[in-house]
Amino acid sequence: MKKLIKNGKIYLDGKFENKDILINDEKIEQIGSDIQNDNFEVIDAKGNFVLPGFVDLHSHLRDPGQTNKEDIVSGTKAAAKGGFTTICAMPNTEPIVDNVATVEYIKRKAKDLGYSKVEVIGALTKKSEGKEISEIASMIEYGIVAVSDDGHCVQNAKIKLNAMKYASSFDIPVIVHPEEYNLAGSGQINAGKYSTKLGLGGIPGLAEEIIIARDIMLAESSKCRLHIAHVSTAKAIDLIREAKKKGVSVTCEVTPHHLLLTEDLCENFDTNTKVKPPLRTEKDRKACIAGLIDGTIDFIATDHAPHADYEKEREFVLAPFGINGFESAFASLYSELVLTGNISLELLIEKMSTAPAKFIKKNIGEIKEGRVADLTIVNLDDTICLTSGNMLSKSKNTPYLNKTLKGKVIQTFCNGRETWKA
Ligand code: DOR
Ligand code: ZN
Repeated sequence: MKKLIKNGKIYLDGKFENKDILINDEKIEQIGSDIQNDNFEVIDAKGNFVLPGFVDLHSHLRDPGQTNKEDIVSGTKAAAKGGFTTICAMPNTEPIVDNVATVEYIKRKAKDLGYSKVEVIGALTKKSEGKEISEIASMIEYGIVAVSDDGHCVQNAKIKLNAMKYASSFDIPVIVHPEEYNLAGSGQINAGKYSTKLGLGGIPGLAEEIIIARDIMLAESSKCRLHIAHVSTAKAIDLIREAKKKGVSVTCEVTPHHLLLTEDLCENFDTNTKVKPPLRTEKDRKACIAGLIDGTIDFIATDHAPHADYEKEREFVLAPFGINGFESAFASLYSELVLTGNISLELLIEKMSTAPAKFIKKNIGEIKEGRVADLTIVNLDDTICLTSGNMLSKSKNTPYLNKTLKGKVIQTFCNGRETWKA
């Protein structure tokens, strides 16, 4: 049966219009004013906003191998609840996604059982050990959209250069998790006032910036499409801004937590604030917002990194790095960036849907006739409050637990199929 979304404020070509959307099977058949009901299933969106489904280029689904933290079903359910219709899975699973069999496993399971589309990011090097290039060509045949050793960082510049040269021959983006291991050491939080005060090892911004500077130079030399994951410092953003001005092929993303949270939250040793790169200073956070506004930062990506309770409920130094992101992303960004007047709702949608969709060159991220119906309906006056009882992710490691946020995803459609309803 065709579905008719009535009376919503639809995001069309960068602005909101009161229109109806007719969905026929997977696709948007018609967008128009007052489309008459002809035995359709009617969805009344009066007072609500209808957005292009969110696209997340950076998530950890933990499947295969760590399915106690998350799996493809729970992860995509949590994604759909957060309004995401396409997510990209990072390869740091067990085994690492450095071969076609694992790519095939993820794609098939997501297609058969998933609540959002899952694109796969293959490992840049075998086992993400930073030593030997992985089977990139074969994985591309199986549909990977990028290569990355996320969670790890190739330390050897010669190996990185060769890998980037090789990747550039396929025009596939190389996503770097920028972390120089000697500088990061066994650091736990941002190096600075709080690491000193709390007696925790510090991870300096320099650990991130030095790899970004290096990889920008390697990108110039290799002509590779370089994408920098989760930028977190003012200096890192400056480096990327300058490189872009010079015409280097470099893009970058920022996470909701680096846009919204700072290192002082670590003061009570809440392990849900422990993440890589670490939460930084207010100056860095403001630079992230400025970078988003001036276009230096191309899009927002959650870095959804689920970890089980028993892993996070430990001494700070023993807990793993990572923040759970899908279910809080939109509401936290809407409440703390849009409602506070820092950015417009339009910019948030560009950075959560349109821009990441363009990056992976998929025909999604915009509401248009003939496109697949990937749609997220939100009620901006309604609130969410994530609890360990109502989260769909298997893991509950978010600093937003038990906090009330405005901007509720009330319904999500992926390829025309309802994947979430509040
Ligand atoms: O905090 C993080 N957790 N940062 C990463 O880069 C990896 C991620 C994970 O896989 O848990
Ligand atoms: Zn990372």
